[in-house]
Amino acid sequence: MSTTARTAAHVSSRGQEMPASPIRKLMPLADEAKKRGVKVYHLNIGQPDLETPEPMRRRLTTLKDKVYAYSPSNGTPEYLDFLHAYYGKLGITLKPGEVLATTGGSEALLFAFMACADPGDEILTVEPLYTNYRSFAAMAGLSLLPIVTFGEDGFHLPARAEWEKALTPKTRLVLLCNPNNPTGTVYSKEEIVRAAEFCRDHGLFFVSDEVYREFLYDGRESVSALSLAGFEDEVVVVDSLSKRFSACGIRLGALVTRNADVAGACNRMAQGRLSPPGLAQYIAPGALELGPEYYGGVIREYQKRRDTLYDGLSKIPGVFLRKPEGAFYFIARLPVQDSDDFAAWLLSDFAFEGKTVMVAPASGFYVTPGLGLDEIRIAYVLKEDDLRDAVRVLAAALPAYRKAKGITS
Ligand SMILES: Cc1ncc(COP(=O)(O)O)c(C=O)c1O
Repeated sequence: MSTTARTAAHVSSRGQEMPASPIRKLMPLADEAKKRGVKVYHLNIGQPDLETPEPMRRRLTTLKDKVYAYSPSNGTPEYLDFLHAYYGKLGITLKPGEVLATTGGSEALLFAFMACADPGDEILTVEPLYTNYRSFAAMAGLSLLPIVTFGEDGFHLPARAEWEKALTPKTRLVLLCNPNNPTGTVYSKEEIVRAAEFCRDHGLFFVSDEVYREFLYDGRESVSALSLAGFEDEVVVVDSLSKRFSACGIRLGALVTRNADVAGACNRMAQGRLSPPGLAQYIAPGALELGPEYYGGVIREYQKRRDTLYDGLSKIPGVFLRKPEGAFYFIARLPVQDSDDFAAWLLSDFAFEGKTVMVAPASGFYVTPGLGLDEIRIAYVLKEDDLRDAVRVLAAALPAYRKAKGITS
């Protein structure tokens, strides 16, 4: 038996700093509500309910492999060809080596952060932001330096002077999500060019998360950072099949950059993790059979859902939101003081005609403490009738909550 004193091993500060997901943390309360027989409308998570397209599902039925082997770490030739064809249709011509297969957009984010910055460096971005940026920044040892954007401006980008003011010697990259989760904002070409010019002027990378590229409403057009001429060294694009093809579970995405050094670093990271998911890469090329009618159908469906929610919610007294322009999320301001408490109360203390809603409190989408306390993020990934019903439930819940908590302002 050892006689040395026992010292407990302790988890790293990185591990301790890892934030819990604000989207999932209320799940136990939702499960309890369901056990009590309450129907819960999930407006909290971006899991699309549309079917994964049949040509992709069909691919699996044709799989003959007897060994599910590792694929090349940068992706199978078939999947890479698929990506080149997909970008080609967008008018973006890529050379071999400029696109890398990843395990979802999530892995592309992590690779991009780790290739563009060192531990202790900073990512300049805007808030509210996609909450998992906080997780990936923590994993890479980076800090997020967000500039606040406001609902009154439709959460559009701040003026250049504000970016200049926020910049520090540790800033290595600018991170934008376009179309935006959680705000539903679509940045104009002028905004994107402004961000890219700022990066070029200061020797920063421009990491552009475009996983919602096609989700644009009211005839808006998509501007990929990859389509900008003259920013080849700065731009790193994060992409994913999850939302585009309602295929979140296959875990497939891509990192695209024309910067050979970043591409090289990401390729070596990819070698270290061996291989992106093989079955997913087998499924993906099925999407080549999908024509413009597929994308058109999906966009029409989400635009209808957006309209239903926007029309319904904007009629509720005290609720403020601007009409979202893209993706399938928005941030709404409510007449409450603590949306974390409101979201929990909806699940544990409230039901209207046997139903309630689960929403994501917005505080988890901000880095700056104290922001977003009167806001929630809503994802519209339910059928229109359910969304209409969810609005009725929220309309009944708000006055009931304010009464229960004695809120009069
Ligand atoms: C803005 C944004 N980026 C990246 C991702 C990562 O998606 P995935 O890893 O499923 O491709 C998501 C998922 O919700 C997202 O909303």
